[in-house]
Amino acid sequence: SLTKNMLGLTTALLCAFSLNVSAEQIEIKFSHVVTENTPKGQMALKFKTLVEERLDGQVVVKVFPNSQLFGDNKVLEAMQLGDVQLAAPSLSKFKKYTKKLQVFDLPFLFNDMAAVERFQQGEHGQKLLNSIKRKGLQGLGYLHNGMKQLSSSSEMTTPADLQGKKFRIMSSDVLAAQFHAVDAVPVKKPFSEVFTLLQTKAIDGQENTWSNIYSKKFFEVQEHITESNHGVLDYLVVTSRDFWYSMPKDIRKDVKTALDEAIAYGNEIASQKSEVDKQRIAESKRATIKELSSEERQQWVEAMKPVWKRFEKQIGKNVIDAAIAAN
Ligand code: LMR
Repeated sequence: SLTKNMLGLTTALLCAFSLNVSAEQIEIKFSHVVTENTPKGQMALKFKTLVEERLDGQVVVKVFPNSQLFGDNKVLEAMQLGDVQLAAPSLSKFKKYTKKLQVFDLPFLFNDMAAVERFQQGEHGQKLLNSIKRKGLQGLGYLHNGMKQLSSSSEMTTPADLQGKKFRIMSSDVLAAQFHAVDAVPVKKPFSEVFTLLQTKAIDGQENTWSNIYSKKFFEVQEHITESNHGVLDYLVVTSRDFWYSMPKDIRKDVKTALDEAIAYGNEIASQKSEVDKQRIAESKRATIKELSSEERQQWVEAMKPVWKRFEKQIGKNVIDAAIAAN
């Protein structure tokens, strides 16, 4: 009968439709701003390899390095709109989304990367992964780059050497306060513009990790680097909650496992690069590397540490205390 035929047809259509849906490939666009020869660049490529090996045909990963797809200031908005699924901006770039992650920018808070790791993996660090939930975003893990150094066109031994000098910073109010504390002039600029700003002497200096100073060739346009280790530059690997929970549960689990493995791999690269890239810069003889005596370093600590107090309310004293305890 007609009804029976129609039912049959509907069932056939539904089957075809659901088959088509389950066969549809999930695409993960991973956008970042550094070169491939960096901890984040390598992590992204490892993630792609692992996912495509294990979820062949079901999930495809497209990696866009060097701000090719989005710069730092756009990527999180693009993620909220569904135009990109994965990114790992520096923890200094979340101020529109949460004030809590500012803890990572406090100068001279962490003694070394081991302390950073302990804090991130501890109770407070894990809670901070959820600090951007209200904005539709989800932290999936932390990735290391390393401790920051200062580079400039002039020598920097004491904080007074920075007076009146323009320093590029990431879009963080803590980092602005850190440079104001030594009477320098902080200038917020995207990573993609830093090389040209330094080369044309539109700014005097910047702060970054050995890996970024090397891979983006800042050392070729900066005569002086002071090994200050004054702060940390790490990343929050982030996705949109809409996208993440739209993936079928089993696939999501496999993607997360691949991501965790890729992060572990990236962290190994980070610890190697903090040595190797420093060495390469030293050997290039393009920039002079200044190591600080403990007395000299103490002057920087005294000048910059008062910044903590100003951000204590926004960050939470308990979070800062947990970070101190990780040392
Ligand atoms: C910077 O803007 O200096 C860094 O956040 C770049 C990066 O992603 O390592």
